[in-house]
Amino acid sequence: SAEEVAALADLAERAARAAGELVRAGRAEHSAVTATKSSRTDVVTAMDTAAEQLIREVLRAERPQDAVLGEEGGSTGGTSGLTWVLDPIDGTVNYVYGIPAYAVSVAVVAGEPAPPRWRPVAGCVHNPETGETWTAAAGGGARLDGEPVVAAPAPPLAEALVGTGFGYTAQRREEQARVVAHVLPRVRDLRRTGSAALDLCYLASGRLDAFYERGLNPWDAAAGWLVAAEAGISLVGLDGAGASQEMLVAAAAPLAAELAAELSRAGALPPA
Ligand code: IPD
Repeated sequence: SAEEVAALADLAERAARAAGELVRAGRAEHSAVTATKSSRTDVVTAMDTAAEQLIREVLRAERPQDAVLGEEGGSTGGTSGLTWVLDPIDGTVNYVYGIPAYAVSVAVVAGEPAPPRWRPVAGCVHNPETGETWTAAAGGGARLDGEPVVAAPAPPLAEALVGTGFGYTAQRREEQARVVAHVLPRVRDLRRTGSAALDLCYLASGRLDAFYERGLNPWDAAAGWLVAAEAGISLVGLDGAGASQEMLVAAAAPLAAELAAELSRAGALPPA
């Protein structure tokens, strides 16, 4: 029901704010890189781990029957059919460098915990540095600090400010650099904010006209995805495919299709 979905959105927000306070207060002391994951550029701090732990505790206290999938802690099973999909710090590199563009992302999804077969139900993206908090509930719209967010009509691609992001391996980055070389001369400009969760919320709020990224993880995208979708943004893949982990292209229609076609021409995905 709408009430249940609103309660899930409220819990997502409370969990995200609690983690946000922890990571912001601890930044000076605990933002050193403690480990790397897929490559030397894929960093983790003690705060990523501590914040995810805190979110898991907040969720377990109220929703012990739900599954959890977190960037740092992996997956924990549940019986309710709902999975909380968490990124304690999306934009960890910004966090480490003190750039105030990182976010706590907390979402709850039904079905599989990854696109395209997930159904995001509620979510929150909270920037602890600015205090900005986007929330969304499926069928209930998106909000920024309580105010409704409705996507603006999209400009043509040539006048679009386009956000994107890069993976962490050298091979993926070489491919992405080739695509950027094709796209950059055809758009107003590009932005790489360093947080896919914020990119999707910025898009919903008109701070970007479009966003694309290849190889996002479910936790980077889940909450921002719902915020964007509820604001009226189209989320697609390439060549008529649905948005997936492989490729997410997001903009108000018809810009989403125009950008997807250009990315396809740029060879953004190797032929299947
Ligand atoms: C990263 C950010 C970045 C995106 C990367 C993600 P992390 O998440 O969202 O913007 O380009 O693909 O991995 O590692 O900072 O949580």
